[in-house]
Amino acid sequence: MSEPRILPTREGYDRWAANYDTMGNWLLALEEPEVDRALGDVAGLDLLDVGAGTGRHAIRLAEQGARVTAVDFSEEMLAKARKKPGAERVRWMTHDVAEPLPFADRSFPRVLSALVLEHISPALLPRFFGDLGRVATADGRVVVTAMHPAMFLKGISANFHDEEGEIRPRSYVATLADYVMGAIDAGLRIVRLSEHSVDDTLASRYERSRKLLGWPALVVMTLAPSAR
Ligand SMILES: C[S@@+](CC[C@H](N)C(=O)[O-])C[C@H]1O[C@@H](n2cnc3c(N)ncnc32)[C@H](O)[C@@H]1O
Repeated sequence: MSEPRILPTREGYDRWAANYDTMGNWLLALEEPEVDRALGDVAGLDLLDVGAGTGRHAIRLAEQGARVTAVDFSEEMLAKARKKPGAERVRWMTHDVAEPLPFADRSFPRVLSALVLEHISPALLPRFFGDLGRVATADGRVVVTAMHPAMFLKGISANFHDEEGEIRPRSYVATLADYVMGAIDAGLRIVRLSEHSVDDTLASRYERSRKLLGWPALVVMTLAPSAR
């Protein structure tokens, strides 16, 4: 088998956009109910989705009554999102999180960043978490999900296949401590940290996940913007 091709993150997602929603990604299936649990009832709340991609969460959260702003740096992922039913309810913006989020402090009672963390270099994690916390209201919640760093030990990072073979948008190997300390160093309080493994139910729905049975595959962090 040939080696995966590593592309700059944005270019990788511009390519992945074509089949991101249809490839049968077991991690998305594992993650979605955990996001709902962590966010709680979002009806009537301003919600920022950072690294929103094809709008997997943004559109359904808008349908649940949140006023959603969604940012991402991949024009192709956003183009897919904008074409979906319900997309008109969401405010879409192109933005690279290497730059500060273009929003005032304390603007959003809910801030979500789903499956983006592995693409942020560990040195930049405190700045990234700090910016998520800055735009969250003082009594708000920041929910961050990530592929569990244990997956790096299995040689797994975000990947897809096209006619040229396996492609990986650039990811950065990190540890759970990098993620936890990134949040703490940014002055955030960890309200809840949970790890989720591949189980039989998931493996029977997504055969490709069976080789990871029992392995922690997802981490979910619920954060409060400041130590209180
Ligand atoms: C695995 S996808 C997740 C998309 C969506 N949150 C979801 O859960 O389906 C990761 C997303 O992060 C975005 N991303 C990665 N690095 C980024 C950056 N520096 N600035 C903005 N978006 C970024 C990618 O373009 C991609 O859409």
